[in-house]
Amino acid sequence: SAGLADVKERTLIAVKPDGVQRRLVGQIIRRFEQRGFKLVGLKMLQVSEGLLAQHYCQLTQKPFYSSLVEYMTSGPVVVMVWEGHNVVQSSRVMVGATNPAAAPAGTVRGDFSLHVSRNVVHASDSLEGAQREIQLWFQGKELVEWDCWDQTLTC
Ligand code: PPS
Repeated sequence: SAGLADVKERTLIAVKPDGVQRRLVGQIIRRFEQRGFKLVGLKMLQVSEGLLAQHYCQLTQKPFYSSLVEYMTSGPVVVMVWEGHNVVQSSRVMVGATNPAAAPAGTVRGDFSLHVSRNVVHASDSLEGAQREIQLWFQGKELVEWDCWDQTLTC
């Protein structure tokens, strides 16, 4: 239908090393499934400094960049691609403000995080950013197109 023209919109969500170590992966996935988004890519990896430099290319001159790299390479991350209507904007709302102090309860950061340097999760900040990040983190063949075959399911 016309209002759902962007149902194929995609975003990149990453559970950062603190989220993995705190066993939050399932709870974060659950929130996106419950909302109705479709998981089309998922993997766990130890991130290289090279990938991070590309991912955070606008931040390499920031004073916090070296601590950001140390944090993001401190353990594996779980990176995902989620698809659905308005998924980029809705994910940002679900994740909450970058600084957890400004993130309302009910958001991932508002429920699970105290400090910007341990903010549990990453979500692409724009459509263009999402497309760039998905290409950076995933090969095309790692993204899966699928549909529900059971007509009793509402999707
Ligand atoms: S900025 O300066 O406005 O461009 O930065 P901001 O948009 O607030 O944040 C960009 C990403 O950097 C992370 N960040 C930090 N990491 C560690 N330590 C500190 N002090 C810090 N400040 C910002 C922030 O979580 C953003 O990462 P992502 O993965 O996009 O959430």
